[in-house]
Formats: sequence, structure tokens, C-alpha cells
Amino acid sequence: MILSVAKDLSLIALATCDYDSTMGVGVLDDSPILKPQDLAGKKVASVPTSGEFPFFPAYAERVGLAAASIEFVHVDNKVLDRVLMEKRVDAITSFALGSASAMLSKGVPSRWMLYSAAGIRNHGQPIATRRKTLEADPALCESITDGLLEPLAYTLTNPQNSLELFHREHWAWLVAARHRSPGSARARAGMVRPGRLHGDDRPRHALPDGARSQAARSRGDLHQPLYRQDQARRVRLDQRPRPGLGIRQVSELNNAFSDPDQRSRDMTTQMENELLTRVGPGTPMGTLMRQYWLPACLSSELEADGDPLRLMLLSERLIAFRDSAGRVGVLDHRCPHRCASLFYGRNEEGGLRCVYHGWKFDTAGNCLDMPNLPADQDFREKVKARAYKVAERGGLVYVYMGERAVAPPLPALEAMLCPPDETSLSARQRECNWLQALEGDIDTSHFSFLHTGKLTIDDIDPNHLERFQFTDRAPRYHARPTDWGTMYAAYRPAQPGHLYYRFAHFAFPFWTLFPNGPLADNVLAQGWVPMDDTHTMAFTFSWTRKTPVLSLNKRGEPLPLLDRVSPTLPNTADWFGRWRPIANRSNDYLIDREAQRTISYTGIAGVFPQDSAVTESMGDISDRTRENLAPSDRMIVMTRRRLLEAVLALQDKGTVPPGVDDPEVSGNARSGDLIAPEGQPWLEAYEQTLRDALHPVMALAAE
Ligand code: FES
Ligand SMILES: [Fe+2]
Repeated sequence: MILSVAKDLSLIALATCDYDSTMGVGVLDDSPILKPQDLAGKKVASVPTSGEFPFFPAYAERVGLAAASIEFVHVDNKVLDRVLMEKRVDAITSFALGSASAMLSKGVPSRWMLYSAAGIRNHGQPIATRRKTLEADPALCESITDGLLEPLAYTLTNPQNSLELFHREHWAWLVAARHRSPGSARARAGMVRPGRLHGDDRPRHALPDGARSQAARSRGDLHQPLYRQDQARRVRLDQRPRPGLGIRQVSELNNAFSDPDQRSRDMTTQMENELLTRVGPGTPMGTLMRQYWLPACLSSELEADGDPLRLMLLSERLIAFRDSAGRVGVLDHRCPHRCASLFYGRNEEGGLRCVYHGWKFDTAGNCLDMPNLPADQDFREKVKARAYKVAERGGLVYVYMGERAVAPPLPALEAMLCPPDETSLSARQRECNWLQALEGDIDTSHFSFLHTGKLTIDDIDPNHLERFQFTDRAPRYHARPTDWGTMYAAYRPAQPGHLYYRFAHFAFPFWTLFPNGPLADNVLAQGWVPMDDTHTMAFTFSWTRKTPVLSLNKRGEPLPLLDRVSPTLPNTADWFGRWRPIANRSNDYLIDREAQRTISYTGIAGVFPQDSAVTESMGDISDRTRENLAPSDRMIVMTRRRLLEAVLALQDKGTVPPGVDDPEVSGNARSGDLIAPEGQPWLEAYEQTLRDALHPVMALAAE
């Protein structure tokens, strides 16, 4: 295509890209405005002749913001950024990369709510060259196009991530540049970037592939393509094979942690924390979770024609009941007549009857009866209670809260598929946000302190596989993204020439597989199901024929305060009244200070209450901006990134998150420990042990 972009110039279009992908609403980094709805009643400056301003009404409509609720201030382009920096307005509309860059050059960081997050897109930006240049050196044109498109493609597909990266890198650089060269106006203006960040003074896109990958690896860039889907997308973008990141390359990420710049890049921002932790209707993470089947309650909690159950799931108030035929229904707790709670309903004769006016609903939400209306006024076929799809398997009731007419398959972690009579299944509540609860399971180094910090190697059977946790309490880590989520191996010396490994996994959207015995048979899984943003129900599956967990000392006596079964209070009908541990935050987890001085690291009895004490003490939702992450948090950082990528891909492009349609991808996920020769690659040791391991699910299938 020949494109005339200026008089008398005949140019060849090489590509187009979406430079407008970062248009949106900007606020100062410390602004209390955290979401679009917070703009109501605020002062917003815009340039009426700008490219992005005409899109604001569409944006406002999509995020449910009444235009009349905003006080618009029309300003000239030259002062747009300044009025925000001087706090004369609360927000501006702008192209984020332009304004953010200008403001950062003055040392003022900002945050952005992108129009693309509401599904508004804008296309068009030619990359052109002269015809004779293209004919003379097509390879050069291709390289330049590739180079220009690479970061742009990333920005296009990950606009929010791009802004985060931009902020982190430019901020770190500006601070460093000022420190090194206070007189350099050019540096302060952001016109050059130091080699320190990228290990090379040349722009990234000018580096050959190998060097670019090496530079990226050397700074531990988690935005490199680390797993299959991302690699496939990149190959499609430039049609060239790239060196995949193998085991050794990924493990080099560990070393980058000593770099303070890397630490700052791995910090979780306030915006990311909001994205990761909020699960209510319409939130990005809530939308991601609604793609999957969610554990709702134990089958044993519902009796045919028994009491309706208050069920809080993803901040929605629901009522579960089992009808006379044994079918389970999960309905919005509000009766569709006039919103009285169906909790008070009569569960009788094939349905749940609201006690206000007697309307009755079956498990699918169909209205069966309207006894307060004369027959000629009955309109039951037009009324439906909001009902979610329900499935029951292995003693657990699952709910699908997504939009699909046909729900996806149930999750397929092996612990869920073991013979039911060989599976233990339990539920316990944690009074904090789901993510900090989950992160306890993928943080192995805490085990040697929180749970067993008072034990020594002399307490343990000298042949027990887990003894090495007591000879070295500071393991090193490998971690990598997987098709089902993320995995890590913590390792430390075992007998001479060998390493002791502990493997664990995160599987979308909230499952963990943690090491609790040898990998050969440690078949278990734990789901951290958000009830709301500040309460979580842990559902734990465990194969009963697995090797028993470490619980006895070498004399065969119980290890002090290390019970794995923690007693719960009697369930109540309250929204948060189910499966609450007896040791909870209202009684400081029954901490025994004398026991803490003598026999236990915590003085708290039981592994679950010990974990509850530390994760709940972080606050209802941990403020991750206060963290100082360490190499031992490698898996946690990677898991947050993996979750954020999936949330944004779903939000921006409708990408179905991992494992929704193909839950079998988690078939190779198993946690546990093993010992392997020092020279053996960690994943090879994992695969080899798994190959030779006990597989209760395969055994079941073969019967
Ligand atoms: S509110 Fe339920 S029947 Fe009237
Ligand atoms: Fe723990």
C-alpha cells in the first residue's frame, strides 16, 4: 500500500500500531481516586481539541459514571499536566505515555485508568519509509519495523502493564540519574536512559535477538515470554523463532534479586494490589474467578428438604438448598418478588418457598407457585430467581457464577479425582483476603520458622526425608510459570552430592499444591475461595493413602503444637459463621506464651491457626506497597505477575484464563519433596519422580 502522509512524499506503509492504547484518565500517584467511579464529584481537566477527549463520554458510560457528576475544566494543551501536578484539578484526560513522561521528568509520578480497560480502542499509526529505501534494503526495513513493533506490541496487548513498567523504570532511572549527574538537564528530562538498567547503551530494539534476551535475563525481566502461550503470541507477531527460556535461564531470575532495581520492579503497587484482591461483581479479579467452577460448600452441609444455607461467595449473598430429590440449588438470597431473603424460606416439596408471600422456586430458579395471586393474574413463567449452575462431585458442591450458557469443565487437579473413599475433604475459614492466605502456601521458607522453628535436627528421625529443613533453614529457589499457573522448587544441601527439593504449585484461579510429604505420593490440593474481599474459605483435598505428614519426633511422640487438624466452632447461620477455627483472631489464636518460650516457635497450637495468625495479622487486605520482597518471595512475585497478566488479558482482550476450558493442563502438577543428585536439572528430577510415582487417579481410571 502506498500511503501519502505529506505532500509530494510517496511512502510505503510497513505496519500500523495502536499508539492510542494508553489514553485514559490520569491522577497523581498519591490520589485517593482508585477507580473510575471515584471521579464522581471531582474536578477533571481536559483539552477539548485533543485526541482522547471525545472518547470520555463513552468511557464514562461504560464504567457507569454520570457525566453530570464531574466538573470538567477545559484547559490548553500546554498546561494540562501542570494543573494536575499543582493539584488544581483532581484528574486529567490525556495520552498517558505523553503526560506521565512529562510529569515524571519533573519528579511527579502518576497513575492511569485506561480507556482500553473499559473496552474502548483506537487504531492507527503508520510506520513508513521511502520506496527506494525499502527496495534497496528490505532486511533493514524489516528489522526496524520489528524493533519498533516489539515494545509497541507489548504496549498494545498489555497497556496497564506497560504503564507500570514505564513508571517503575523511569522513576528508578530518574532517581539514579539525579544522584549521579545532578547538572544533567538532558538526563532529568528523560531523553537518555542509563546503561545500568539494560546493560547496554543502545536502545533495546537495536540489540540482536540473543543479546536482547541476555539483557532481559540479566535484569530478571518477568515480562519476558516465560511460558507457552506468550511465546506463541510473540512468534506470531514477528514470525521468527526465538530462543525459548529453558530451565537454567529461568532459574537465573533468582540471582537478579540482589539488584535493588529488580526489587523495586517486583514491588506490588497499590493499583496492582486492588486488581489482585477485589473479587466482587464487575471487578477484574472477580470476573476472572467467575470463569471457573468454584467450591461452594461441602455436600454434607445440605440435607434434602433441610435448612437453607447462607453462602457468601465472591461478595455475593446466596442461598444454597437441597430439594426433596437431592438436587442442589444456589440462588441470589433476595426473592425476585420484593427482595425478602430466601434464607427464611421453607424448603419443601421440590423447592424453596419465600415466607413473605409464598412464592416458590426450584433449584434452577424457576418460579413454581404464586399463591398470593388469583389464578388469572399468575405470571410465574415470567419470573425467575437468579440461580447459578451447580455441580456436585466427591463430597463438594461447586458453583459456576460466570456468563456462559454452557459451563466449562470442572477443575481436574488429581487430588479432586481420587477415589472418594480415599479422599479427605475439609473446609476452614480464614478471616482475611484470599491472596495473602494463598501466598502462605507458596512460601516454603516460613515452615522452618513459623511451624517448626523450635525443632532441631536432633528431634527428627535421622532418616526422615524432611530432616534437611532443620539443617538448612535458608533454601534457594527455582520458579517458573506453567500452563496451569506457577511452580517452584526450594532446594538446599542433602547428603553429599545431593540436593533436597521441595516442590509446590499455584493453579488458577486460587488453588495451591504444597509440599507435605514425598512427591511420590503427596496428592493434595487446597482452594482459597474468596467469600468476599476479607473472608476466605479454604477447601482442602488430601489422598488418605499418602505418606503421613511429619508429626512425630524420633521417639515416636507428637511434635509439640503441630496438629494438622484444627478444631472449628459449631457452624452458625451467619454469612461468615461456617468453619471458623476455635483459635481465631478474637482470642489471639489462644497463644500460650509459656509454650512459646519452651516448646514452640509461636506458642499457637496447630498449623492452620499458626498460618491464620500471621496472614490475618497483615490486615483484612495486606498493603503490599509496604513490603520488602526477598529472594525467598520469588514464587509469590511470579504468581502475582501471572495473575495480573491473566486478569488484564481477560479484561483487555477477552482471553480465556488458563485452565478454564482445559483443566487437564494441571495433570502434571504435584507438590512434595525429593532428593536428587546435584547435577540433575530440577525439572528433570521432578518429571522423573512423577513418572515413577503412585498415581491414584490413573489407577482409578484403569479399574
Ligand atoms: S418477597 Fe418473596 S414472595 Fe414476596
Ligand atoms: Fe504455613
